[in-house]
Amino acid sequence: MRKATIGTIGQFVDQEVLIEGWLHNKRSSGKIQFLQIRDGSGFIQGVVVKAEVPEQVFQLCHTLTQETSIRATGLVRKEDRAPSGFEMTVTNVEVVGDSENYPITPKEHGVDFLMDHRHLWIRSPRQRAILKIRAEIIKAIQSCLDNDGFTLVDPPILTPSSCEGTTNLFHTKYFEEDAYLTQSGQLYMEAAAMALGRVYSFGPTFRAEKSKTRRHLIEFWMIEPEMAFADHDENLRIQEQLVAHVVQHILAHCALELKTIGRDISKLETVKAPFPRISYDDAIKFLQARGHDIKWGEDFGAPHETEIASSYDRPVFIERYPVGIKAFYMKPDPNRPEVALCADMLAPEGYGEIIGGSQRIDDPVLLQKRYEEHQLPMEAYQWYMDLRKYGSVPHSGFGLGLERVVAWICGLEHVRETIPFPRLLYRLYP
Ligand code: 4AD
Ligand code: MG
Repeated sequence: MRKATIGTIGQFVDQEVLIEGWLHNKRSSGKIQFLQIRDGSGFIQGVVVKAEVPEQVFQLCHTLTQETSIRATGLVRKEDRAPSGFEMTVTNVEVVGDSENYPITPKEHGVDFLMDHRHLWIRSPRQRAILKIRAEIIKAIQSCLDNDGFTLVDPPILTPSSCEGTTNLFHTKYFEEDAYLTQSGQLYMEAAAMALGRVYSFGPTFRAEKSKTRRHLIEFWMIEPEMAFADHDENLRIQEQLVAHVVQHILAHCALELKTIGRDISKLETVKAPFPRISYDDAIKFLQARGHDIKWGEDFGAPHETEIASSYDRPVFIERYPVGIKAFYMKPDPNRPEVALCADMLAPEGYGEIIGGSQRIDDPVLLQKRYEEHQLPMEAYQWYMDLRKYGSVPHSGFGLGLERVVAWICGLEHVRETIPFPRLLYRLYP
């Protein structure tokens, strides 16, 4: 018997095949039973006709419960009314593993219950579709960068110093020394850019953030490109091309998954480069005109970002934030040193900041001054200073938060559904 996966079942029309999977759901109307079978690659309806199968097969199907693992054989048929376009006329079913009282039933469940059962919840069609889209987004990002001359470089996870300030560092011991889980690979990617030109990293990053919002994870994945001899404007061009490419790739390759989760794709179709750019100054004026209580020099909160981004049908850059509210490594604008050559990319529909990036300080004297202002321990950052001592060049980079991008592209209410096993404030299980 030929083994087939549901995802490629179209190659087996009018042939008898074996499918290995799980019973997702079941309906019965006396002489016919409809088995919803899933095997990870897709879903298919198996039709069991009493008059056409041995009696014990029909009786066995009656006893099957949700999530029983099975081997089912049958004839593949084209069926235009089925979401996948195919159906299977079942000839035999064999049980591989029983499943009694599966906790996640087709009825509604509360968020805490689902989160406690995340290891099972990911089997649902919606969660499966989201994880498929996440994987495809990663593929699209990597292939776009790979084709654009970037080299993948892996920065360390355990580090002796911080990149994004010390307030949300995860502390651990490294034998006798103090160490921290990485907040960002950026500083190491700057070193790598001086060795390889255009580089990017893709890996987990950690922030002990005591914020319980729909945008924050404690452990999240970042893509961090870094480019030697690239200025602020080139940085933004690369970002908008990357994000537009990813969205168009998902529209082209994940139509079924987007449909499964009910995403309004008209909101994605408009996402094409170039993206609008507004200055921090103008963003503050815009917010003030709309009655927000915010002054120049203050950082934006989620409501501010949502207000700004909702005026656009694609992501928007906010450029040149005050130096005082941004990280120590950002290069000041030579024409206006009180602002940095940086930008945040805000996604539409209230998804907030999906990218943070900047041109980096390349002058060792200014970097030394920043070390002092930010009271950074010199020993831990000596190597980073070396990059400015030995052939310093203008360079820029950015960090794209994968889960924020998945949440936006999928149109999700909360980042908890964007990652297989979310680490959230006060949640480490399962
Ligand atoms: O803006 P951030 O903090 O920038 C950096 O870490 C830079 N060192 C990146 C770089 O230039 N190489 O973080 C980058 C992005 C944010 O725009 C956001 O999308 C995401 O990472 N992010 C989070 N995503 C989920 N949960 C959190 N707690 C996040 N914090 C940041
Ligand atoms: Mg940021």
